[in-house]
Amino acid sequence: MARLMKEVGDRYHLLYYAAKGGNWKLAKHELNVIISIFKAGSVLRPKYKNDLTDFTQSYLNRISERILEEDWSGFDDVYRKGIDEANKLHEKYGYDYVRYVLPITPPVQLDLKARK
Ligand code: HEM
Repeated sequence: MARLMKEVGDRYHLLYYAAKGGNWKLAKHELNVIISIFKAGSVLRPKYKNDLTDFTQSYLNRISERILEEDWSGFDDVYRKGIDEANKLHEKYGYDYVRYVLPITPPVQLDLKARK
């Protein structure tokens, strides 16, 4: 899971600032990749399956709806609840020292502005 989780963390960061910058299509793309990583994770590590599925339903699918509506404040709210839940799960599995924190700086490797 560690390599998958590193990628999820990076993409969760990108997703936030893509939505904030108005590149909703990029936000959707990053979210879709995270959802597929969690699907693969469920198969690779069955012990995480239920939590990965519940997390996808309760947080990622809701984030997806906010993205499609381009609803920034709704997005921000469910996105941050997702962080709290992810950290609860880290604790549950004995990784209380793995606390995801949204970086205060936007990622620089992709253009976060909406394309005209
Ligand atoms: C968007 C939500 C999530 C984010 C941003 C996130 C982020 C991270 C990060 C950055 C790490 C440390 C990876 C490393 O440096 O090696 C990690 C570890 C971990 N996460 Fe998550 N996580 C999320 C959701 C979840 C969920 C839903 C589970 C469900 C079981 C989970 C289980 C774990 C476990 C077991 C570890 C420790 C072992 C490992 O690194 O694979 N995480 N997570």
